[in-house]
Amino acid sequence: MTKITLTQPDDWHVHVRNGAMLKTVIAHTARQFGRAIIMPNLKPPVTTVKQALSYRKEILNALPADSTFQPLMTLYLTNQTSVAEVKQVAESAFVHAFKLYPAGATTHSEAGISTLVTVYPILEAMEKYNIPLLIHGEVTDEVCDIFDREAIFLEKILTGLIQQFPALQIVLEHITTKEAVQFVESAAKNIAATITPQHLLYNRNALLVGGIRPHHYCLPILKRESHRLALVKAATSGNPKFFLGTDSAPHLSHLKETACGCAGCYTAHAALELYAEAFEKAGALDKLEGFASFYGADFYQLPRNTKTITLEKQDWLVPDHYGENDISVTPLKANEMLAWKVSAF
Ligand code: DOR
Ligand code: ZN
Repeated sequence: MTKITLTQPDDWHVHVRNGAMLKTVIAHTARQFGRAIIMPNLKPPVTTVKQALSYRKEILNALPADSTFQPLMTLYLTNQTSVAEVKQVAESAFVHAFKLYPAGATTHSEAGISTLVTVYPILEAMEKYNIPLLIHGEVTDEVCDIFDREAIFLEKILTGLIQQFPALQIVLEHITTKEAVQFVESAAKNIAATITPQHLLYNRNALLVGGIRPHHYCLPILKRESHRLALVKAATSGNPKFFLGTDSAPHLSHLKETACGCAGCYTAHAALELYAEAFEKAGALDKLEGFASFYGADFYQLPRNTKTITLEKQDWLVPDHYGENDISVTPLKANEMLAWKVSAF
């Protein structure tokens, strides 16, 4: 196959930041996706509908003039979140979900939750109003091995959470293990998951073999090959519980290429192309449209997009970096060739 036309996809998990970084990255996401679920882990975090609306405006103002891209906003769940705020989300046309970060799990997660019971009344209200909870599913115990943190979270936290709130809509974000695949497959239909391009394309060797590669460092961290294979199988299975969420997470290049580098892979520059590569390798390009363009919209009970987007087999070199002046972001596969290119809308 040398050309594929798909219904325009959406990105159900992306970090676009704010200020100068937002201006550098937003056109990449808006070039290919109709909509995107925007992560709220700014500094300070986006915790109220009022803040989300002002962040939404900032994103809209940073878009290229002819763009019809729609940012779908989320709120950062904290110990201070109130039931009244949940009600406001339920009444808002622009805010679509809450994001749960276990405190200390990842970038800007300091304001996250350390004891889940504290927010039980909030989760109860979200269940009542049918507002999805998006979860960064990793435990943070210091003694827990970083490669086991997702699997342990499922056992120790998520199982109990679902028992407590069986009707709550949950997206387990950026899953990285076969345990998470199995968990989501066997859970009820209100439990879904997003999968990133880097977790479909790489295993943990990509971080460490031949030298340490900070641009492959993200959280949850890349796992061993058997997990990557389970993720590819899930993404290409046609099961609507698994859908596209890039977790594209830009950081300044020098803050990744340092003694203590930030977590996050920047993939927005070529998101659909990267997924196409993974699906093609699995012989499953025919399953890309469901994963990229249908299942996420269906889960969020939003209409599917009506435009189309075309990918063509065309080699192109990923630049060394994006941005100008003091902004430099190193993309995934910098200085490497990609085989697919989005060519038309
Ligand atoms: O690698 C990551 N980067 N994982 C996250 O959960 C957060 C993200 C970021 O905001 O940089
Ligand atoms: Zn993320």
